[in-house]
Amino acid sequence: MSQPSQYAVWGNPIAQSKSPRIHQLFGEQTAKNISYIAKLGDEQQFEQQLQQFFAEGSKGANITAPFKERAFALADIHSEGCLLAEACNTLKRLDDGRLYADNTDGFGLKSDLERLGWLIPNQRILILGAGGATKGVLYPLLQAEQQITLYNRTHQKAVELAEKFTHYVRSSSRWQSQRSNASVCAKFGNIQTACLEEVAQQSFDLIINATSLGLQGKYVELPKSTFNQAKVYDMQYAKEQQTPFLNYARSQGVTECQDGLGMLVGQAAHAFNLWENVMPDMEKVLKVLKNEMK
Ligand code: ATR
Repeated sequence: MSQPSQYAVWGNPIAQSKSPRIHQLFGEQTAKNISYIAKLGDEQQFEQQLQQFFAEGSKGANITAPFKERAFALADIHSEGCLLAEACNTLKRLDDGRLYADNTDGFGLKSDLERLGWLIPNQRILILGAGGATKGVLYPLLQAEQQITLYNRTHQKAVELAEKFTHYVRSSSRWQSQRSNASVCAKFGNIQTACLEEVAQQSFDLIINATSLGLQGKYVELPKSTFNQAKVYDMQYAKEQQTPFLNYARSQGVTECQDGLGMLVGQAAHAFNLWENVMPDMEKVLKVLKNEMK
């Protein structure tokens, strides 16, 4: 039997990562001979570690906190979504040795929303937070014609993100309509920002928590009316979906709540597809993980 293709996830800390288990399940499901391990990145030596890893013949890597921006800087070429996110969660070694960087986080979220039947064109989404997690998902959401409002504690950060992505949407639409004859124009959603008072005056179909607050057991408080018709998605995940934000949403009367375990499986599936050219069945793997977390 030939040697397995080598992959790893790099981060610090990394012991908690579910990626090795997820990719092991993908490998079994698709009958691909892969090895996927967790690697502890060193704050000082991360770039050298990664170069060594690829010099040894490894085919790809996932990158998690705090190295996504450093992996982005290290790569030779980038996907469009990765350039916009300015962060990389997936590296692939090309045949000529160059490193290709992608960001599959947003595609993972999009796939999970599709799985749930929660991705309806032109729906209104409120995203909480304007850090790296938000930046990583805006590109596929805008491509899926979502109407996005960003709310962030530091309003200016949300404004800067919205401006950057608005510019992208406008220039891409123009480019598309120039090269095709308008009928095949790319469609995009739009993106704007809101302060808390403005949030209170609007209604949303979906609220997505992309802040890091849950790690401290906290959540962003919103006016109760914000939850009126909304489904709620938390990019964080927890056993039995008991994240601080989802518990808060339930206390405000929300019945349709989902945590980010499906997004985690989704981003892994898109990385696996990039490396091995086969899209695994996410639902099956998600079921196994949920059982193992019980
Ligand atoms: P990253 O940028 O790597 O995603 P982060 O800098 O820890 O992670 O912040 C993620 C998001 O959580 C940010 O939008 C941050 O808000 P600020 O831009 O105002 O810092 C938000 N966040 C973190 N702690 C918060 C808190 N105590 N209250 C409200 N929002 C918070």
